[in-house]
Amino acid sequence: MTDQRPWVLITGCSTGIGRALVAACREAGWGVIATARSLAALEGLPEGPDLRRLPLDVTRPESIAAAAEACAGLPLTALINNAGYGQMGPLEWIGTEELRVQFETNVLGLHAVTRAFLPLIRAGCRPGEGRIVQVASVLGRMSVPMAGAYCASKFAVVALAEALRLELEPEIRVILVEPGAIRSEFRETLVKDLGDLPGRLQGTRFEPVLAAYLARHRGAEVHGLTAQACARRIAAALTRPRPPRRVVIGADAFWANVAKAILPAALWDWALRRAFGLGKQPGGPRSVAK
Ligand SMILES: NC(=O)c1ccc[n+]([C@@H]2O[C@H](COP(=O)([O-])OP(=O)(O)OC[C@H]3O[C@@H](n4cnc5c(N)ncnc54)[C@H](OP(=O)(O)O)[C@@H]3O)[C@@H](O)[C@H]2O)c1
Repeated sequence: MTDQRPWVLITGCSTGIGRALVAACREAGWGVIATARSLAALEGLPEGPDLRRLPLDVTRPESIAAAAEACAGLPLTALINNAGYGQMGPLEWIGTEELRVQFETNVLGLHAVTRAFLPLIRAGCRPGEGRIVQVASVLGRMSVPMAGAYCASKFAVVALAEALRLELEPEIRVILVEPGAIRSEFRETLVKDLGDLPGRLQGTRFEPVLAAYLARHRGAEVHGLTAQACARRIAAALTRPRPPRRVVIGADAFWANVAKAILPAALWDWALRRAFGLGKQPGGPRSVAK
């Protein structure tokens, strides 16, 4: 491979932020290795010498190994760990298996992909040029009802990224991305991934709480930033000679961080419980999770 442009590999390019990142990074002069669980999901991306497509499921070691092998010889400079989804629901009713699968994708998958591509980034560019972007969330800094499993996974991403940054810099820069609400397929997917949880919640005090939560999520579809705007912010950070450690995307994320920092914990809890319809509940649940 004689191509000397810098290349970035992006996970989860079938939809949303990942899909928008393909165009944003190409516009910023990067060669892009767009990956998705299914190659068919990458159809429609404009062809060009600056694009490769690869299948990559971040939860399957053999898929990660095959993608890394396919990239040998490319001057890989950067990795964007974007793939992820949200397992929602009250923690009392989230099974261990659902929590495990959430971590398999958002945390263990991100870590496995990082380890697989780090040697290629070292080999593909000079010290100081390499970049690893870990897409966390504003919910990696604050935990909210109905999203405890997802928040836990994103807190873990923040912790992994901050340690990785200290371990790798200045040889390779680690950029932590913390978006607020972004318009993407995220909300449709989270409804599908609820599985039989709504049925299990019937008759419990969480039934209306989950319904209100999902309705509020639909509002984020209207008010959130576009995936394209989010992707442009990430591509700009990736391209800077001195990239930021942390990129908080969206006014909602910014102000939520401010509120969390300045409000007394009791007031923060009161506001969240009230916002989620938990404020006026009696002491205990009406039924017990099995
Ligand atoms: N949207 C928001 O409001 C928001 C806010 C903060 C952070 N984020 C984070 O941003 C990232 C992108 O989310 P999005 O909003 O763009 O949602 P999205 O449109 O649902 O995109 C998620 C992407 O992750 C992929 N993915 C899921 N599991 C995977 C796996 N095992 N292997 C490979 N790819 C997998 C999906 O692929 P399939 O099509 O194959 O499922 C899809 O391409 C996620 O990490 C999310 O947590 C989103």
